Amino acid sequence: MGILFSLVLLHAAAMIYAQDGFISLDCGSPPGTKYTEKGVNYVSDDGFIDSGATNDTIHPNNYFPRAYRSHRSFPENEWNCYTLRPQKGKNNRYLIRAMFVYGGDKGPAPLFDLYIGAEYWTTHINSKPANPIYYELIHLTSSDYINVCLVNTGDGSPYITSLELRPLDITMYEYQKKSLFCFPGHLNFGADVFMRYDDDKYDRLWEPISLEGCKAVQTSDRVTLGPNNVEQVPSKVMSTAITPINSKGSIVFSFESLNTADECIFYIYLAEVQKLETNQKREVNIYINGKRNGPFLVSTNMSTIRSETYSGSSSYTLIINNTLNSTLPPILNALEVFNLMQVRQNQTVDKDAAAIWSTKSTYGLLKLNWQGDPCVPQAWVGLNCNYSGQGAVNIISLNLSSRGLNGEIATALANLTMLESLDLSYNNLTGNVPEFLGQLDNLKIL
Ligand SMILES: *[C@@H]1O[C@H](CO)[C@@H](O)[C@H](O)[C@H]1NC(C)=O
Ligand SMILES: *[C@@H]1O[C@H](CO)[C@@H](O)[C@H](O)[C@H]1NC(C)=O
Ligand SMILES: *[C@@H]1O[C@H](CO)[C@@H](O)[C@H](O)[C@H]1NC(C)=O
Ligand SMILES: *[C@@H]1O[C@H](CO)[C@@H](O)[C@H](O)[C@H]1NC(C)=O
Ligand SMILES: *[C@@H]1O[C@H](CO)[C@@H](O)[C@H](O)[C@H]1NC(C)=O
Ligand SMILES: *[C@@H]1O[C@H](CO)[C@@H](O)[C@H](O)[C@H]1NC(C)=O
Ligand SMILES: *[C@@H]1O[C@H](CO)[C@@H](O)[C@H](O)[C@H]1NC(C)=O
Ligand SMILES: *[C@@H]1O[C@H](CO)[C@@H](O)[C@H](O)[C@H]1NC(C)=O
Ligand SMILES: *[C@@H]1O[C@H](CO)[C@@H](O)[C@H](O)[C@H]1NC(C)=O
Repeated sequence: MGILFSLVLLHAAAMIYAQDGFISLDCGSPPGTKYTEKGVNYVSDDGFIDSGATNDTIHPNNYFPRAYRSHRSFPENEWNCYTLRPQKGKNNRYLIRAMFVYGGDKGPAPLFDLYIGAEYWTTHINSKPANPIYYELIHLTSSDYINVCLVNTGDGSPYITSLELRPLDITMYEYQKKSLFCFPGHLNFGADVFMRYDDDKYDRLWEPISLEGCKAVQTSDRVTLGPNNVEQVPSKVMSTAITPINSKGSIVFSFESLNTADECIFYIYLAEVQKLETNQKREVNIYINGKRNGPFLVSTNMSTIRSETYSGSSSYTLIINNTLNSTLPPILNALEVFNLMQVRQNQTVDKDAAAIWSTKSTYGLLKLNWQGDPCVPQAWVGLNCNYSGQGAVNIISLNLSSRGLNGEIATALANLTMLESLDLSYNNLTGNVPEFLGQLDNLKIL
């Protein structure tokens, strides 16, 4: 996960895919910033977040992609949220990637939490200056709004370098209707450079990796991906692999889990990269913490092996060895490991969220630090919410008394249909109380 980017030269074929629905934010860059790098169109994060300081240029090093040179930092608020509204909306699956590069010029690196909506995602720790660290989530969303929040936990000001969202096919990574936190990464065995858009049209960041006791093998032919490639792993990722140097050896890959309680699943991708003679056969067993999966016959058509759920271990070891019948040593092309995210709290219903965001922009209510979801994890200042509806969190009261409001009463308030109490007193609002407020059945106080 700790990565140092090796720059792949911008190449001419970079615009093959239309980047439909990509959101690519260069955090902390001046408002109006707009440029294309490696085929991806970046914009400033201005307009996606209310808080933070943008005047933080770190490591103005030409070695880094441009999006890594500036960041936004958050010295003031506890919660700081980006609100993304992807074109495809709710009930879709998205890849969300948050990137962090710490300059290291301002004392010890801060430590802070990352949330997706009201759900804890991970804790960001990076003690090495100028060392890019990223976190990726395969997020299944039930709302049109995706809030990515940085939370100050008292160990320094949160910061962020870039934030990216990519729409995935809904069929990809279908797992118990859960969001999946990719850790330790999308691993591309036998490769020597990072691979992303547009080798991968979904712009997953495939890390090159080699293992002790193994050598890289590859094919110059295209690997036939076939019907088993539900996750749409790129052919280029599948065309490299590792195999033990000692033909009787095994492939062994271990990592520490972030949290012993986490539930995790493995997606293991296998494909033959050598031309086999008729008497040759490559068949493997895969052991995850000692538990056998297989045997699997490796073919030029790739296989995707999705493991069952594992939990309760502080570390995981994957061993791949050949079966007694196999004439060739084991192979491993690519691997993804995911932690299953828990949903402990539903978000505010979209209609209420849209109405309150609209009200916020009508009155320019920046001082209240209304960020992220209006009701979760806690209600914004001046709001009360009802959490006991079946899966529906609604706003039930709004108090904007003495907030210096000017102009007319915001029409968006009419969409807060569960509102029981509204206090707009001691403001400078003009006009009569609009008719629509009288239509709210439950409204008690004005
Ligand atoms: C940005 O920071 C530098 C150094 O801290 C300071 O000299 C400069 O005035 C700042 N610029 C703005 C626009 O705040
Ligand atoms: C690969 O898959 C295709 C389509 O499913 C099939 O026609 C072909 O026979 C397979 N090849 C091998 C070597 O299994
Ligand atoms: C493969 O590895 C497993 C787990 O380490 C081991 O139990 C098994 O005996 C090995 N099989 C062969 C054929 O080496
Ligand atoms: C080895 O192959 C033979 C014939 O294909 C099969 O009957 C046997 O079950 C296989 N043994 C193992 C351990 O896979
Ligand atoms: C909250 O919602 C539940 C279920 O819709 C409803 O029964 C209850 O009266 C509501 N509570 C308040 C305070 O509005
Ligand atoms: C969230 O909403 C769904 C229905 O949309 C419901 O089944 C689920 O129990 C709710 N979860 C929580 C934690 O309230
Ligand atoms: C709204 O808040 C003000 C203080 O901020 C308080 O005096 C007033 O009673 C509140 N209104 C309602 C309806 O609770
Ligand atoms: C109220 O919600 C509807 C859809 O639910 C939307 O079309 C409309 O624009 C909203 N009204 C306001 C004033 O935001
Ligand atoms: C209230 O609004 C009126 C008309 O928009 C304006 O003339 C007046 O200065 C405002 N008063 C305050 C205290 O903002």
